[in-house]
Amino acid sequence: MTVQDGPSVEQLARLLPAGFVLGVATAAFQIEGSLDVDGRGPSSWDAFAEKPGAISDGSSPAVACDHYNRSGEDIALMRELGVDSYRFSLSWPRIQPDGKGPVNEQGLDFYDRLVDKLLAAGISPMVTLFHWDTPLALEHDGGWLSRATAERFGEYTAVVAARLGDRVAQWVTLNEPVSVALQGYGLGVHAPGHGLLFDALPAVHHQLLGHGLAVQALRAAGVPGGIGVANMHAPVTAAGGGYRDKLMADTFDLLVNRIYSDPLLTGSYPVPPLLVRPWFRLLNSAPDEDLRTIHQPLDFYGVNYYYPVRIAAGGGTRNTPAGESDVMAKLPFHLVPFPEYKVTGFGWPVAPEHLGTMLRTLKDRYGASLPPVMITESGASFPEPARVTETVRDTERVGYLAAHLGQALGATSPGGVAEDVELRGYYVWTLLDNFEWAAGYSQRFGLVHVDFETQQRTPKESFHWYRSLSRARRA
Ligand code: FCB
Repeated sequence: MTVQDGPSVEQLARLLPAGFVLGVATAAFQIEGSLDVDGRGPSSWDAFAEKPGAISDGSSPAVACDHYNRSGEDIALMRELGVDSYRFSLSWPRIQPDGKGPVNEQGLDFYDRLVDKLLAAGISPMVTLFHWDTPLALEHDGGWLSRATAERFGEYTAVVAARLGDRVAQWVTLNEPVSVALQGYGLGVHAPGHGLLFDALPAVHHQLLGHGLAVQALRAAGVPGGIGVANMHAPVTAAGGGYRDKLMADTFDLLVNRIYSDPLLTGSYPVPPLLVRPWFRLLNSAPDEDLRTIHQPLDFYGVNYYYPVRIAAGGGTRNTPAGESDVMAKLPFHLVPFPEYKVTGFGWPVAPEHLGTMLRTLKDRYGASLPPVMITESGASFPEPARVTETVRDTERVGYLAAHLGQALGATSPGGVAEDVELRGYYVWTLLDNFEWAAGYSQRFGLVHVDFETQQRTPKESFHWYRSLSRARRA
């Protein structure tokens, strides 16, 4: 058995600690559709998706999985799947159409009913407050480049807490602030489509400040649920042994990992190597008071893991994990492929062992300041047909998930490389094939196949696999 093939269901079931949460994750903009109904306001992603060429397959998010009208069917699928928890996001502009001011009760009602239906199905709700769909009115005023957005986010969180706070088991403030700052404001491949490079760093600081204000709002409302954040972590290695590759790899590690986790978990931004320090000046001048707000006690730390990154010095290449960016070529480093790994449909390396080493790195860096960890996203896209008449035999996805969950469990078991990390759960990205941001419908990550013409849902082999794991554990 190779690592990529992954352990069997029985082996995994034996590794699962008592109380370990198995879940699935989604995001509002990727599944809901119904963008213009029941008082929802537009988001940064509505506008971005309309720009010619922004979505690689030219598709529209207008319907997506039509989950807004089919949440009952989707909850029934999750019930059949046997997951303990469902991580989903709230669309801020559905709840507050302008991102500030009046609340759209119909939007809140939708999530209120969703939470009740989940609880009735025995599925514990994990709510992400922000998964990238910034209200467009706020985006027009600077979006996350503006400090005001952080303040509005705190206010919106208070509105949500007042309505849903009694029933939500776990809260995730932000999903992957790195993706919004880097891909959205820095490289222009995601909404809002700015190519500001290091001038995008205020979007890092203001998202983190928004996180702090949101945690304060949840605590002020006295919510009983656990509170955390979901950061993407990409382990970074240098392509070569030379000084320049090493310096650029360390810089990239700061950019994708440490400028988020350090302030969240320790209350200060990392000090960059001297040669690159000027690039980070917009962060290193942040007021101490903001850092105190950002550094809130957390009940869990969410990690989204997809791939490791290998970095070499030298510019000129446009490729990023989320698509081609003109401004990427201006940066003095580039991503180098891993020839030793198979790749997913997105071209991302399949490297489960890096998940264990990443957990080790987190513990080494943060020690007792690292809260219990949840893997809040893990999954892969593979080429699959748009229409199916039978179960998709997605054995590669089964292997991927088994290997990644196996790594996470093995690493955090006694004798594992990260045995001192308390791992509490694992959420598969994702339940349904959906609107994969700038890749449109071209990257299928679901346990359930979706025919976007008919909205027919067809569970894949990976769905049956995850269900058998959930059952084996309970047996
Ligand atoms: C993550 C995002 C999620 C999805 C997966 C494939 O970075 O959080 O919405 O796009 O990647």
